[in-house]
Amino acid sequence: MTTADANAIEKDLTQSTTAAPVAPRIGLEQYYSEAGPDYRAWSREFNMHFGYYRAGANPLDREAMLEQMNAEVLSRLHLDGIPAPRLLDLGCGLGATLRSFARRLPRARLLGLTRVPWQVEHARALNRAAGCGEHVRVIEGDYEDTILPRAGYDGVYALESSCHAHGADKRALLAEAHRLLRPGGRLVIADAFLAGGRLAGSLQRRVYRKLCECWVIEELAQLHLFTQRLAELGFTGITVENLQMRVAPSVAHIHWVTLKFLLTDVVFGKRRMTRARWNNVLAPILLPLVSAPLGPMTYCMVTATKR
Ligand SMILES: C[S@@+](CC[C@H](N)C(=O)[O-])C[C@H]1O[C@@H](n2cnc3c(N)ncnc32)[C@H](O)[C@@H]1O
Repeated sequence: MTTADANAIEKDLTQSTTAAPVAPRIGLEQYYSEAGPDYRAWSREFNMHFGYYRAGANPLDREAMLEQMNAEVLSRLHLDGIPAPRLLDLGCGLGATLRSFARRLPRARLLGLTRVPWQVEHARALNRAAGCGEHVRVIEGDYEDTILPRAGYDGVYALESSCHAHGADKRALLAEAHRLLRPGGRLVIADAFLAGGRLAGSLQRRVYRKLCECWVIEELAQLHLFTQRLAELGFTGITVENLQMRVAPSVAHIHWVTLKFLLTDVVFGKRRMTRARWNNVLAPILLPLVSAPLGPMTYCMVTATKR
């Protein structure tokens, strides 16, 4: 097979899996500012991600599973032997992971980046309330093009934020992460990917597109393009772990949390429901319809080292 044949097949596979990128009707800033407070229903610590289930853990204790996901990211950053590691959270939300790391690594210098000014303000307030010192900071910025110093970090991670980056290979985000890491530094990305085959038919494609629109995602990364891009950038030791079964117990909480939210906030609540807030109600209903085993969406943790 020639390279041209291989490229044609890959292009065909890519197009049939996802179709064209989605153009969400509301912006990222609006979505996270309006729906941001609702994440409290999911996590009292404002963890804006799924949980990691370990054998023997209580699958009903959602907060513990969310915190375990933070611990899993941290362990994959391989920081042993670095007395005061410099870590960067690309897409830090309300800073829950930063605060978790600060508790575990009191000497680490932690920086979180988010594009949403509302999150910067509230993450800083949450950090103050948690007693975090000057070594835990949150700033506004775009993780695809930061003004942060080259090779300034021992570890860089993106926990359920890379999905918002451009492209099926997330090239700008990965290139920026590569620039920011010191040689030998580690990258950890945990998120949903398109990996398990194609979207089956037009109904599933429509569900996928609606889900992306709800969560203000243009397109999910395609795992093979994503790892190919990492290799092209010069990352080594690229490892992919499929965590679909690890996150399943916390995903199972989503419908109960949504129902509770509908009762407390929509039926009896005083805050006005907006499109962003309705999106957050609709997305969990759509999620299982395109996720493994029914669809190609699957949750992975990807780790790599900068050469
Ligand atoms: C689902 S939240 C995850 C937050 C956090 N990582 C957590 O697990 O709690 C996605 C985050 O990605 C951030 N984000 C999306 N695109 C971004 C960009 N281009 N630059 C910086 N942050 C971005 C959003 O502002 C939001 O904070």
